[in-house]
Amino acid sequence: MAGSIDKGTDTTGRSAVHGAPVIAIDGPAGAGKSTVAKAIAKRLGFFLLDTGAIYRAVALAASRAGVAFSDGEGLAGIARALPIRFDESGAVWLGDEDVSQAIRTPEMSQGASTVSAHPAVRDALLELQRRLAARGRCVVEGRDIGTVVLPWAPLKIFLTASEEVRARRRHEELLARGAQVDLAATLAELRQRDDRDINRPVAPLKQAPDALLVDTSSLELESVITRLVELARERLGPAISLDQ
Ligand code: DC
Repeated sequence: MAGSIDKGTDTTGRSAVHGAPVIAIDGPAGAGKSTVAKAIAKRLGFFLLDTGAIYRAVALAASRAGVAFSDGEGLAGIARALPIRFDESGAVWLGDEDVSQAIRTPEMSQGASTVSAHPAVRDALLELQRRLAARGRCVVEGRDIGTVVLPWAPLKIFLTASEEVRARRRHEELLARGAQVDLAATLAELRQRDDRDINRPVAPLKQAPDALLVDTSSLELESVITRLVELARERLGPAISLDQ
């Protein structure tokens, strides 16, 4: 039954919570994932779990501890002991420090993409992500949520957009935050990151076969959000009303 919590086991043999009302949103950088995920979570009264922030926090903690982004085992140690916490406002905390801004620099974007390619890091963060999502009523945003982290999610969305549109959105986002970068550099950074995220051997960025593909290149994000909220209500309606 939708909304019921049923302990089960996924294909990797790890324990998992099936049937929880979760929405998986995957896709490349700049596709509008964060905006869409945040808006859907707000309208449904769901918690937002930004898994990219977790990889970014590992990169930040590693750079501060002097652990190289090439040191898979060292990074996995950091990931296993990561004192990360998300508060109700969506801020990301490492211990008692709000790192919401510090993890959003272009350096940490590349760092997160690099550290996330290590299988030991992904493995270390898998259970953490599942534990955070197990509370249910959450929108989980990332690259491998529908394929690996929560393959049982009742609603999976894969958001994409053309490279040019994604680079332009990313660039505007960086400018709005006061960063001084040009569009060409942003596009180059995005291509590099896409290439690494798509071609890594473990849990690459990929559309789950049962995910709904939404190309936001020529769509207003507002109309995408409205449509996806309707879809979520149709798909998770019983879960939403049961839990409210
Ligand atoms: O969504 P983001 O740009 O904040 O993610 C930063 C990097 O983290 C991204 O380039 C790849 C990695 N990532 C991942 O490998 N798996 C996820 N579920 C989320 C992010």
